[in-house]
Amino acid sequence: MTQTDAPTERTLVLVKPDGVRRGLSGEILRRVEAKGYTLVAVELRTAGDDVLAAHYAEHEGKPFYAPLVDFMKSGAVLAVVAEGHRVIEGFRSLAGTTDPTTAAPGTIRGDLGRDWGLKVQQNLVHGSDSAESAAREIALWFPAL
Ligand code: PPS
Repeated sequence: MTQTDAPTERTLVLVKPDGVRRGLSGEILRRVEAKGYTLVAVELRTAGDDVLAAHYAEHEGKPFYAPLVDFMKSGAVLAVVAEGHRVIEGFRSLAGTTDPTTAAPGTIRGDLGRDWGLKVQQNLVHGSDSAESAAREIALWFPAL
Protein backbone atom coordinates (compact mmCIF):
# COMPACT_ATOMS: atom_id res chain seq x y z
CA MET A 1 0.00 0.00 0.00
CA THR A 2 1.29 3.46 -0.84
CA GLN A 3 0.74 6.29 1.61
CA THR A 4 0.74 9.84 0.32
CA ASP A 5 2.20 12.32 2.75
CA ALA A 6 1.94 16.02 2.04
CA PRO A 7 2.55 18.72 3.07
CA THR A 8 5.46 17.58 5.15
CA GLU A 9 7.41 18.94 8.13
CA ARG A 10 10.42 17.96 10.22
CA THR A 11 11.08 17.60 13.92
CA LEU A 12 14.14 17.04 16.08
CA VAL A 13 14.05 13.93 18.24
CA LEU A 14 16.72 13.22 20.82
CA VAL A 15 17.11 9.84 22.47
CA LYS A 16 18.50 11.05 25.78
CA PRO A 17 21.44 9.38 27.58
CA ASP A 18 19.13 7.13 29.64
CA GLY A 19 17.57 5.77 26.45
CA VAL A 20 20.94 5.17 24.78
CA ARG A 21 22.40 3.60 27.96
CA ARG A 22 19.44 1.25 28.32
CA GLY A 23 19.69 0.11 24.71
CA LEU A 24 16.32 1.60 23.75
CA SER A 25 17.44 3.61 20.69
CA GLY A 26 16.34 0.92 18.27
CA GLU A 27 12.94 0.50 19.92
CA ILE A 28 12.36 4.26 19.89
CA LEU A 29 13.35 4.60 16.22
CA ARG A 30 11.16 1.58 15.45
CA ARG A 31 8.16 3.36 16.93
CA VAL A 32 8.88 6.51 14.91
CA GLU A 33 9.14 4.51 11.68
CA ALA A 34 6.17 2.27 12.54
CA LYS A 35 4.04 5.40 12.86
CA GLY A 36 4.98 6.15 9.25
CA TYR A 37 7.56 8.90 9.68
CA THR A 38 10.80 8.98 7.70
CA LEU A 39 14.23 9.24 9.31
CA VAL A 40 16.14 12.01 7.55
CA ALA A 41 19.25 12.10 9.77
CA VAL A 42 20.49 9.97 12.68
CA GLU A 43 23.70 10.66 14.58
CA LEU A 44 25.08 9.39 17.87
CA ARG A 45 27.03 12.10 19.59
CA THR A 46 28.14 13.55 22.90
CA ALA A 47 26.47 16.93 23.37
CA GLY A 48 28.67 19.82 24.44
CA ASP A 49 27.88 22.84 26.61
CA ASP A 50 27.35 25.16 23.64
CA VAL A 51 24.74 23.02 21.93
CA LEU A 52 22.91 22.26 25.17
CA ALA A 53 22.90 25.88 26.34
CA ALA A 54 21.36 26.93 23.02
CA HIS A 55 18.98 23.96 22.92
CA TYR A 56 17.60 24.61 26.42
CA ALA A 57 17.96 28.43 26.42
CA GLU A 58 14.24 28.97 27.15
CA HIS A 59 14.58 26.96 30.40
CA GLU A 60 17.62 28.76 31.78
CA GLY A 61 16.88 29.85 35.35
CA LYS A 62 14.37 27.07 36.04
CA PRO A 63 15.29 24.74 38.92
CA PHE A 64 15.71 21.74 36.63
CA TYR A 65 17.96 23.53 34.12
CA ALA A 66 21.42 22.69 35.53
CA PRO A 67 20.58 19.05 36.41
CA LEU A 68 19.01 18.62 32.98
CA VAL A 69 22.09 19.93 31.16
CA ASP A 70 24.36 17.75 33.34
CA PHE A 71 22.19 14.73 32.62
CA MET A 72 22.27 15.43 28.87
CA LYS A 73 26.09 15.46 29.06
CA SER A 74 26.25 12.21 31.02
CA GLY A 75 26.41 9.99 27.96
CA ALA A 76 25.81 9.76 24.25
CA VAL A 77 22.65 11.21 22.73
CA LEU A 78 21.06 9.93 19.52
CA ALA A 79 20.04 12.99 17.50
CA VAL A 80 17.40 12.33 14.86
CA VAL A 81 15.50 14.36 12.30
CA ALA A 82 12.16 12.79 11.44
CA GLU A 83 9.88 13.92 8.64
CA GLY A 84 6.21 13.57 7.84
CA HIS A 85 2.88 15.36 7.82
CA ARG A 86 2.25 16.74 11.37
CA VAL A 87 5.34 14.92 12.70
CA ILE A 88 5.95 17.55 15.41
CA GLU A 89 2.72 16.87 17.27
CA GLY A 90 2.79 13.23 16.17
CA PHE A 91 6.11 12.56 17.84
CA ARG A 92 5.06 14.44 21.03
CA SER A 93 2.06 12.15 21.14
CA LEU A 94 4.27 9.08 20.67
CA ALA A 95 6.60 10.33 23.44
CA GLY A 96 3.91 10.92 26.07
CA THR A 97 3.88 13.48 28.84
CA THR A 98 7.03 14.74 30.60
CA ASP A 99 6.83 12.61 33.76
CA PRO A 100 7.46 8.99 32.69
CA THR A 101 5.81 7.56 35.79
CA THR A 102 2.43 8.97 34.81
CA ALA A 103 2.84 9.08 31.02
CA ALA A 104 0.12 7.04 29.33
CA PRO A 105 0.78 3.38 28.57
CA GLY A 106 1.31 3.01 24.83
CA THR A 107 3.67 5.97 24.72
CA ILE A 108 7.47 5.77 24.71
CA ARG A 109 7.75 7.29 28.18
CA GLY A 110 4.72 5.43 29.51
CA ASP A 111 5.89 2.03 28.29
CA LEU A 112 9.65 2.32 28.72
CA GLY A 113 10.32 4.99 31.35
CA ARG A 114 9.80 5.63 35.03
CA ASP A 115 11.09 7.74 37.88
CA TRP A 116 14.20 6.02 39.21
CA GLY A 117 14.24 8.10 42.38
CA LEU A 118 17.12 10.17 41.10
CA LYS A 119 17.04 13.93 41.13
CA VAL A 120 16.77 14.31 37.38
CA GLN A 121 13.84 13.54 35.16
CA GLN A 122 15.08 10.71 32.96
CA ASN A 123 12.36 10.66 30.35
CA LEU A 124 14.12 9.00 27.43
CA VAL A 125 13.34 11.40 24.60
CA HIS A 126 13.01 14.99 23.52
CA GLY A 127 10.80 16.19 20.68
CA SER A 128 10.49 19.72 19.32
CA ASP A 129 7.35 21.43 20.63
CA SER A 130 6.54 23.74 17.68
CA ALA A 131 7.51 24.51 14.09
CA GLU A 132 9.70 27.37 15.34
CA SER A 133 11.47 25.15 17.87
CA ALA A 134 11.95 22.42 15.26
CA ALA A 135 13.58 24.82 12.79
CA ARG A 136 15.85 26.25 15.50
CA GLU A 137 16.80 22.85 16.95
CA ILE A 138 17.43 21.16 13.59
CA ALA A 139 19.70 24.05 12.57
CA LEU A 140 21.54 23.67 15.87
CA TRP A 141 22.05 19.89 15.82
CA PHE A 142 22.30 19.41 12.06
CA PRO A 143 23.59 22.66 10.54
CA ALA A 144 24.29 20.95 7.22
CA LEU A 145 20.65 19.95 6.64
S1 PPS B 1 8.07 23.60 31.32
O1 PPS B 1 8.61 24.23 32.52
O2 PPS B 1 6.62 23.46 31.34
O3 PPS B 1 8.55 24.26 30.11
O4 PPS B 1 8.63 22.16 31.38
P1 PPS B 1 8.43 21.00 30.33
O5 PPS B 1 7.97 21.50 28.99
O6 PPS B 1 7.61 19.92 30.95
O7 PPS B 1 9.90 20.49 30.22
C1 PPS B 1 10.89 21.28 29.63
C2 PPS B 1 12.13 20.44 29.49
O8 PPS B 1 12.70 20.19 30.76
C3 PPS B 1 12.66 18.81 31.08
N1 PPS B 1 12.28 18.70 32.48
C4 PPS B 1 13.11 18.23 33.41
N2 PPS B 1 14.35 17.74 33.32
C5 PPS B 1 14.94 17.33 34.47
N3 PPS B 1 14.35 17.38 35.68
C6 PPS B 1 13.10 17.87 35.80
N4 PPS B 1 12.54 17.92 37.01
C7 PPS B 1 12.42 18.32 34.63
N5 PPS B 1 11.22 18.87 34.38
C8 PPS B 1 11.16 19.09 33.06
C9 PPS B 1 11.64 18.21 30.16
O9 PPS B 1 11.88 16.85 29.90
C10 PPS B 1 11.85 19.07 28.94
O10 PPS B 1 13.04 18.68 28.26
P2 PPS B 1 12.97 17.93 26.88
O11 PPS B 1 14.38 17.73 26.47
O12 PPS B 1 12.21 18.80 25.94
O13 PPS B 1 12.26 16.64 27.17
